[in-house]
Amino acid sequence: MIAVVGSLNMDLVVTVRRRPRTGETVLGSDVRFVGGGKGANQAIAAARLGGQVHMVGKVGDDPFGSTLIANLAAAGVGTEAVQVEKGVSSGVAFITLDAAGDNQIIVSPGANARLMPADVRAQAGLIGQARVLLLQLETPLPTVVEAARVAREQGVTVVLDPAPAQPLPPELFRLVDFLTPNEHEAAALSRQPITDLRSAKLAAAKLISQGARQVLLKLGGEGVLFACGNRFEHMPAFPVKVVDTTAAGDAFGAAFAVAWLEHGDVYRALSFANAVGALTVTKAGAQSSLPYRKEVEAFLAARGA
Ligand code: RIB
Repeated sequence: MIAVVGSLNMDLVVTVRRRPRTGETVLGSDVRFVGGGKGANQAIAAARLGGQVHMVGKVGDDPFGSTLIANLAAAGVGTEAVQVEKGVSSGVAFITLDAAGDNQIIVSPGANARLMPADVRAQAGLIGQARVLLLQLETPLPTVVEAARVAREQGVTVVLDPAPAQPLPPELFRLVDFLTPNEHEAAALSRQPITDLRSAKLAAAKLISQGARQVLLKLGGEGVLFACGNRFEHMPAFPVKVVDTTAAGDAFGAAFAVAWLEHGDVYRALSFANAVGALTVTKAGAQSSLPYRKEVEAFLAARGA
């Protein structure tokens, strides 16, 4: 079983030809409402790939909250530990998407900010039944640290997507088995600018020296760099036509967890996760773009992988 502790957001998505400069107004498309939130995206991605998944999080007592819980349930994710917080708005993400498929996201955390360390401690029984815990950083940092402690105490493997980037306490590095930053997050955490594979390796090495055990550095169209100790392996991405990169990183981490749980082989799990990341960017939206297991298997088979 996979447990996810994290955020649920309603994504309000507007497509623009180009992003506005400061003080400028541009017209965009009609707004689309798509289920999102890095935590909920990971939970749904893992469930669609065949994982048994339970989510721990909070939504507000508004229509967005009920839709977000319904989305999880429709994907087969256990929602008993998703609480409805009275008098609070659900998390909302304001997303602009440009013609190249690149996005900018502003998150209003709402109920996600009310997920407290005591809330995850209260779910220790559920987290202890999992073999992997997926974490991200859209809920308060003390809550993320407490969730990692609860997991580690019970021998559960911890995978942290350090997004959005923020300074992390040294304890969290030690509690995490797999750290899955993208290049911006890795650069911010390591203070090593990343411009190519060589600088990516330097950043990964710095993260290891800060206490990270294993780093899966997501490089977008350049694939993924795996670092463990003084070993570095680069796996190129599957080339695809990019429509929208939203949730690709979330899907990557979830896919890695599902595949790693199935056979325990990091390299096979990375190849599977690369395929899932590639398929996710070929469709628009967050939860609307997360692929099903059959699609991933067909994609890999067509490429002889
Ligand atoms: O990673 C993508 C997600 O980031 C979006 O779904 C949005 O809700 C923000 O949390």
